[in-house]
Amino acid sequence: MSNKRSLFNQSLDRSVFVTYFLGGVVPLLGFALLSERVLPTLADRNEQWALVGLVAATGILSLVSFFALRRIVMHAVTQMNDDNTRLDALLGVARELGDAPHSQVVVDSTAYWALRVGNADASWILARTDLEKPFGLMGQRGDEASAWFEAHEDEWTALVDRAARDSESICIRDESVDSLSVVIAPLAGDELPEGALVAARRGLDFELAEVDALSTLAAQSGVALTNAERGDIQRNFFSHMTELVVSALDTHIQHRAGHASRVAESANRMGRAMGLDDEVLHDLHFASLLHDVGMLRIPLEHQRDPKYFRKHSTFGHKVLSRIRVWERAAPMVLQHHERLDGAGYPDGIAADDICLGARILAVCDTWDALRTKDWNRDALSVEDALTEIEANSGGQFDPEIVATFKRLVEQGQL
Ligand SMILES: [Fe+2]
Repeated sequence: MSNKRSLFNQSLDRSVFVTYFLGGVVPLLGFALLSERVLPTLADRNEQWALVGLVAATGILSLVSFFALRRIVMHAVTQMNDDNTRLDALLGVARELGDAPHSQVVVDSTAYWALRVGNADASWILARTDLEKPFGLMGQRGDEASAWFEAHEDEWTALVDRAARDSESICIRDESVDSLSVVIAPLAGDELPEGALVAARRGLDFELAEVDALSTLAAQSGVALTNAERGDIQRNFFSHMTELVVSALDTHIQHRAGHASRVAESANRMGRAMGLDDEVLHDLHFASLLHDVGMLRIPLEHQRDPKYFRKHSTFGHKVLSRIRVWERAAPMVLQHHERLDGAGYPDGIAADDICLGARILAVCDTWDALRTKDWNRDALSVEDALTEIEANSGGQFDPEIVATFKRLVEQGQL
């Protein structure tokens, strides 16, 4: 793509030059030749100098115009390329959001894509499903998202209310502490949930194209959220039950709060990148959220004893395989600690005998564990965690899955 663009730019540059040569240089040469003939006929020396000056000034003006024209054309092409990239991304987002199995996936995707299509530093989704209730923070993304939101929550919530009521995006600049440029783009649709995408960056104001992209993203997100919400109502019972179990797990497994949700998010991204169909993505989502559900049967005092905690995948499988909506996720849970070389547990199966979902889950689970501070060590940096994952490619992990994972990490998607 970039090579094609570079070739396009070169050919455009050539066209500008040829046009300038034919339209500027050739007439100028003609004018210079004519002046050379006229010059000796002029008796007055001042008139001669004036003619030479006129030719020189015309030449300089023509050259300056050439560079200005070239600059304008190249700037327009760069902007066109940026718009195309943004359009490409928005088409990708539309597909991703349209296929989202769960409203939280829509929220996470929207917050993520807001940083990319809007060149924002942080993004938030504020929404409500009941008009009587206040707007709640559904999701956020960006290193400083929490701090900025804490500082501006009241002001932004009021603007979300206004944007949602008027169905119009609002751009503001906050000159207080952080000097933020902020866009509040309403989620589309007459139905609930009602709310807005908020995107902010430090420094430069958002350009019109970026505001348009964020508004389009918010509109797509609103439609996807409404659809996902309908699906969510149907799956309400199981979703709430899953959330309940996940929150019980967060409390039960020390130092791992939020682990299941983070693994589910990266497994979802991996599944999409690998082109898995909706049904497998759905099962992978539940398997990711519930992969350590068996830990609930391991007493707190034995959580770090391999003799006990190694049983958690079997316990988890037993629980899930009895419940129809989770039964297809059960094998992924059973096998998420198996290794490609057969040295894993509980059954020591190897290679393709381990189901694809479990092989994806193994990488995402380990990645989050490495990136999170544990009771006996600090969190690893992205680089160190990736090195660790790659060092175990082929032995513990499926190399193809590691390669896809590495690509997503390098693209900043994980
Ligand atoms: Fe586990």
